[in-house]
Amino acid sequence: VKEKTQQKEGPRIVFRVGKRLYLRPISREDISQMTVWMNDPDTTRFLSMVHPMSLEGELKWFENTETNKGKNVIFAIVLKDSDEMIGVMGLHGIDHLHGIATTGSYIGKEEYRGKGYGTEAKMLVLEYAFNTLNLRKICSFVYDFNLRSKRCLEKCGYRVEGVLKKQHYRNGEYRDDVLLAIFKEDFFPVWEEYKKKNFA
Ligand SMILES: CC(C)(COP(=O)(O)OP(=O)(O)OC[C@H]1O[C@@H](n2cnc3c(N)ncnc32)[C@H](O)[C@@H]1OP(=O)(O)O)[C@@H](O)C(=O)NCCC(=O)NCCS
Repeated sequence: VKEKTQQKEGPRIVFRVGKRLYLRPISREDISQMTVWMNDPDTTRFLSMVHPMSLEGELKWFENTETNKGKNVIFAIVLKDSDEMIGVMGLHGIDHLHGIATTGSYIGKEEYRGKGYGTEAKMLVLEYAFNTLNLRKICSFVYDFNLRSKRCLEKCGYRVEGVLKKQHYRNGEYRDDVLLAIFKEDFFPVWEEYKKKNFA
């Protein structure tokens, strides 16, 4: 699997660089690895998908994403040291009229979770969303039991805005959906602090 997560040939494509990882656009070659992750209950229990995801379906999704670039931006999260793709992070439903979008993400393997990679990737995506796309507010939804994701978002400056009670049926019971959001002006102090800590 590791081999498949690496860029095999051609130049190293890098869109944003952090301390330990970089973001690049996803490519068709990433879709088989993503399909593995998208069927893994250890990952999907935190996400909204409930059906099996076929490779063909995911390839169609990829084509659609390519043609809808203005509305969605999807990044591969890649380790600098090994060029291994460890997850995916996206900005969805980009709306320039209202200046909003929603973030969603996953790190594909448990061994890479809880090591700060999610936070690092999110900070890079937020910097892009606010400083390049000129968005105003970014939202994210997490299930009430996903405390790791909630903590990761809060470290980036997101705050809880509301709770949709018993919104989704997960694992045999109805669970709350928590809406978190961050405004541009609240991001910059967090970003400055982050840069001092990680890029100084
Ligand atoms: C959510 C996700 C992207 C976050 O990325 P990550 O690299 O694991 O997150 P980080 O390590 O940067 O931050 C996680 C924080 O949560 C904390 N944490 C971990 N488990 C926790 C728990 N059960 N309760 C509270 N905090 C927890 C970690 O200690 C860390 O905080 P700290 O730096 O203050 O110690 C990743 O865990 C993941 O892919 N999870 C599965 C899929 C998923 O949940 N996707 C998001 C759907 S909304």
